[in-house]
Amino acid sequence: RMRQFVDSLLSQMTLEEKIGQLNLVSVGFDVTGPVVSQNVDENIRKGNVGGVFNTYTPVAARKLQEFAVNNTRLKIPLLFGYDVIHGHRTIFPIPLGLSASWDLEAIERSARIAADEASADGLNWVYSPMVDIARDPRWGRISEGAGEDPYLGSEIARAMVRGYQGDDLTKENTVMATVKHFALYGASEAGRDYNTVDMSLNRMFNEYMPPYKAAIEAGVGSVMSSFNDINGVPATGNHWLMTELLRDKWGFDGFVVADYTAVSEMIAHGMGDEAKVGELALSAGVDMDMVSEVYLRHVKQSVDKGSLSEEVVNTAARRILEAKYKLGLFEDPYRYTNDQRAKTTIMKPEYREASRDIARRSMVLLKNSKQTLPLKKSGTIALIGPLANNQRDLIGNWSGAGDWKQAVSVEQGIKNVAGNGVKINYAKGANITDDEQMIKRLNAHGGELQLDKRTSEQMIAEAVKVARASDVIVAVVGESQGMSGEAASRADIGLPGKQRELLMALKKTGKPLVVVLMNGRPLALPWEDQNADAILETWFAGTEAGNAIADVLFGNYNPSGKLTATFPQMVGQIPLYYAHRNTGRPFNGDLLNKYTTRYMDVTNEPLYPFGFGLSYTSFTYSKPQLSKTSISPSENLEVSVQVQNTGNYDGEEVVQLYVQDVVASITRPVKELKGFQKINLKKGESRTVTFTITPEHLKFYNNELDFVLEPGEFKVYVGTNSRDVQEASFTVTQ
Ligand code: IFM
Repeated sequence: RMRQFVDSLLSQMTLEEKIGQLNLVSVGFDVTGPVVSQNVDENIRKGNVGGVFNTYTPVAARKLQEFAVNNTRLKIPLLFGYDVIHGHRTIFPIPLGLSASWDLEAIERSARIAADEASADGLNWVYSPMVDIARDPRWGRISEGAGEDPYLGSEIARAMVRGYQGDDLTKENTVMATVKHFALYGASEAGRDYNTVDMSLNRMFNEYMPPYKAAIEAGVGSVMSSFNDINGVPATGNHWLMTELLRDKWGFDGFVVADYTAVSEMIAHGMGDEAKVGELALSAGVDMDMVSEVYLRHVKQSVDKGSLSEEVVNTAARRILEAKYKLGLFEDPYRYTNDQRAKTTIMKPEYREASRDIARRSMVLLKNSKQTLPLKKSGTIALIGPLANNQRDLIGNWSGAGDWKQAVSVEQGIKNVAGNGVKINYAKGANITDDEQMIKRLNAHGGELQLDKRTSEQMIAEAVKVARASDVIVAVVGESQGMSGEAASRADIGLPGKQRELLMALKKTGKPLVVVLMNGRPLALPWEDQNADAILETWFAGTEAGNAIADVLFGNYNPSGKLTATFPQMVGQIPLYYAHRNTGRPFNGDLLNKYTTRYMDVTNEPLYPFGFGLSYTSFTYSKPQLSKTSISPSENLEVSVQVQNTGNYDGEEVVQLYVQDVVASITRPVKELKGFQKINLKKGESRTVTFTITPEHLKFYNNELDFVLEPGEFKVYVGTNSRDVQEASFTVTQ
């Protein structure tokens, strides 16, 4: 039926009207590039617009939709897109934080709630999930994805697509998802945003492509092109990527939208003039042009002069119209503009409660010596740091429709959770940064840093005084939300500004020092690791941040998050990730052996490895047991391990399974995640956890790009993180 409907519509459309469908304009509040759409009303009236983004609220969206439907010849409704990345109005932790929950149900739930709110707010299309594998924490956009691992990233990609799209896109509370940024954007050289990507096919297919493919398999409706080039061809004009791989090999049947002005940016990439880059993008398979209006300005002439076939335009227009059909917009253009639903859906108490619950699950306990945490609900706390009573930063970047004024500060959260038994002595102690250039930049882009005009000596002195008069110090430090996200790369990934000096001064008081971190990337924190008594990584935890942090600090929730991106000891170790290859000269721990792969001034070890995260309780693991030690290439294998809660609290543990292909036709990683289970164990309880390794888990793309299982020896590792594992081995026979 869709085919017939769209065929009949297309047959009535002029070439100009078809080109109009390929144009996405930005109308509204947030813009993420230098160009803003002009003459929008006029363009809609002329049928020059297929969709708008940055417009929300049912009233604003309805106005534009009515305008489109009532003023255009064929009454084709508009798509309404927006960057709904980690919640819409109720904000959840930033995606890197969400991923650290390793809780697929919770992640799917966050996307479901975001879809419910977004669709009640006039939107039918969201630019999420962002699934770029990122192994360079200098890159600000590492905050927006699920970290470094393709297996976990793929599971999360599927969960998010399910959450947004549900099982029926025509329902008024589901939205079309967009997997982005296709492709390999997370491998931008030197972690600098928008930079070049140059990568072997082996790495591309085994390590970077899986999450995009997983989203496609989960039925994602649209794909967004990335800003970078790939081995010399910009993704937005890359026919191999957008057609041969995405559609011909992977079978994607939705539409591709360019990233913001990515079509016209191909001029700066050196691919030709406007007309030429428009032809490149459209014929590569990029159906919709976001904001640059190159298609609008040039495609007709390109068709008229024969440098672009009309068939290419028809195909792209068909894909956009099909998306509108799938969303039910032809049946009812106003399906997503129900004012009443907005009133009863947006930020309802259950959604705030879900945000608090999911935020707690995303926090990672990095250190806890002498059981400093959980804190007692009595005594005096020195609550120190630029993020301690801050609300502005808590919802993190890409929270466009979120209202930071709704966010719960840590100070408020402690009051809510610990009640009157706890006395709080507050001091700011330091600004997040004192770097004037950085401050200017952050302020110019809505960061509005709240700067204290006192000298850092004065601020630190006050904090020390407060600490001396208290039983324990809780120092809430980190980045401002604008220091990660798009166009927010950092070359130094330590704590910014004078915050380490502040911690050093606090340490000298001899009081127990609890560091609560807020940041959008792995940081290099060697001093903090050595000197703090406890460290809790909270990311930017969203609307309920303060309550969720206090729940963890006071033991109402036992932390269970695990890192999904390696924390290096220092920036010079980057890229540092657990699934590296062995090399011919692996480092064997012998510091006097010069000729191995290593640095002279730092070990190869991370500060905290992938999968790492502590709990208030402790878990012990038995050696993994295999159902067989030899299998055929088509057989499954079961791996079981007994996990026991040996500590004093009930708690959750993420049991992790890694596999290594010991001998293969190409060098393979020392281990790769192939399974995980998050289990809840009461104090003293033990449980057998069983994983099934299927042939798919053992396959990889060889140098001919065939997805193969090569018989031979494999190792299995099971444990609490990627480093602390126990092993077993098996063979796959010919
Ligand atoms: O969706 C985003 C993308 O992630 C980065 N550039 C802008 C787009 C639209 O806001």
